[in-house]
Amino acid sequence: MNTNSNDYNVLRISLASLGLIWFSFLWSICRKRYRLRPRSPLATASPSSVPGVSILRPLKGLDTNLYENLESTFTQEYPNFEILLCVADEDDQALPVVRDLLSKYPHVAAKILVGEEVVGVNPKVNNLMGGYRSASNDILWILDSNVVADPGTLARAVDALQTPTKSGKRVALVHHVPFAFSTESRAGSRIDEAFLNTNHAKMYLAINTVAIDSCVVGKSNIYRRSDLERVNGSLKPIKSTDPNAKQEGLCGLPAFGKFLAEDNMIASALWHELGLRHDLSCDVARNVVGNMSLHDYIQRRVRWIRVRKHIVMAATLAEPFTESIVLVVIGSSSLKYLVGLPRWLCILVHFFLLLVVDLDVYTSLAAHPLPHSIKREFWAGWAAREVLALPIFLWALFGNTVEWRGRRYQILNNGEPENIKHWIPSAEPVLTPGRIYT
Ligand SMILES: *[C@@H]1O[C@H](CO)[C@@H](O)[C@H](O)[C@H]1NC(C)=O
Ligand SMILES: *[C@@H]1O[C@H](CO)[C@@H](O)[C@H](O)[C@H]1NC(C)=O
Repeated sequence: MNTNSNDYNVLRISLASLGLIWFSFLWSICRKRYRLRPRSPLATASPSSVPGVSILRPLKGLDTNLYENLESTFTQEYPNFEILLCVADEDDQALPVVRDLLSKYPHVAAKILVGEEVVGVNPKVNNLMGGYRSASNDILWILDSNVVADPGTLARAVDALQTPTKSGKRVALVHHVPFAFSTESRAGSRIDEAFLNTNHAKMYLAINTVAIDSCVVGKSNIYRRSDLERVNGSLKPIKSTDPNAKQEGLCGLPAFGKFLAEDNMIASALWHELGLRHDLSCDVARNVVGNMSLHDYIQRRVRWIRVRKHIVMAATLAEPFTESIVLVVIGSSSLKYLVGLPRWLCILVHFFLLLVVDLDVYTSLAAHPLPHSIKREFWAGWAAREVLALPIFLWALFGNTVEWRGRRYQILNNGEPENIKHWIPSAEPVLTPGRIYT
């Protein structure tokens, strides 16, 4: 055997072993964190002994399950919080639902804020500005309108925010892994549900457990306004050692209105500019998947891959190597080569293990087994996702426009690092009004 084929051999052995380590790693972290959700002592503490929290809910239109989603904020078991419900337009369909809740829970400090302050292209940031400016607490919990939270979520998140990491760094942001549920039997809804609850959750937890960089989606994020007021989205570390030092230029939420993935950028800014860390608490951001067709699902995946490509190119290019079909091609080739294991056996074992792991991820996050009533549709969605992953990835790689909430956006890439992440709406007309793009 010559040196070349030896190298090849070593590479194959390494890849095969890595695959196995990957499986066991994902399996163990998912179980550990989510199987137990202890009650936080903060839940029953006296109001003056816990930090106050302002919950900001950006609203637009009637999301699926809106009433239950919003009600879950009113029923948080935490002694000191206010709710700021933000809508851009006074005719918004969400307002009657919000008013119902205000009269159902008169003892909860909750306020409606109507109107937007345009600070950039991001409609969610513009909508949130009123709430951001009038929040009376330092700790902010930004919770999307399609998310429902368990009553103990806030107390556990504040606990996590106040507990430094193992390496002694302060935690600047607590987030929750998205967990989807769908009441629709449509193909796109089922595929998205299967995607978020298996592959996406595994990757999200794995990346955040290794924690070499910020990786946050903005469904449910908790951070301090005093921290956000110090960063400007440049991702350059603050040089001064003064703990109150600010970046130059516009800081705080308005500085993030120019990004469409503002949640991701805020998390990165807190991490890189302030040198702080993030934590996941043991709750999930339970979000209702809307009525999606297959086309909606594909558009949505393409949108996120295209955004991510401009923020973290290397990680995006590595993505296919976490896909089961690519892994099994590598794994079965190496095992056939090394020990002569038949390819079909390897494929069978691989997909069996994958199903076991994914079912376990689902059960851990949902805190119950996969309901019998959706079993067949769930696995059909799961299989479709596995098969579609690579073609969608390749399509997304070549292209820079995305559709979001019925508008088409062009992602700028003029070579300057600061501008790579900026988005501007292109002059193209509204393409598909009324579609759900959340
Ligand atoms: C943000 O702050 C950094 C360093 O303080 C500065 O170099 C950069 O120009 C600022 N960015 C903006 C957009 O103001
Ligand atoms: C979902 O959308 C389809 C097509 O637009 C429609 O026929 C169906 O009634 C919708 N389902 C619900 C529950 O709204």
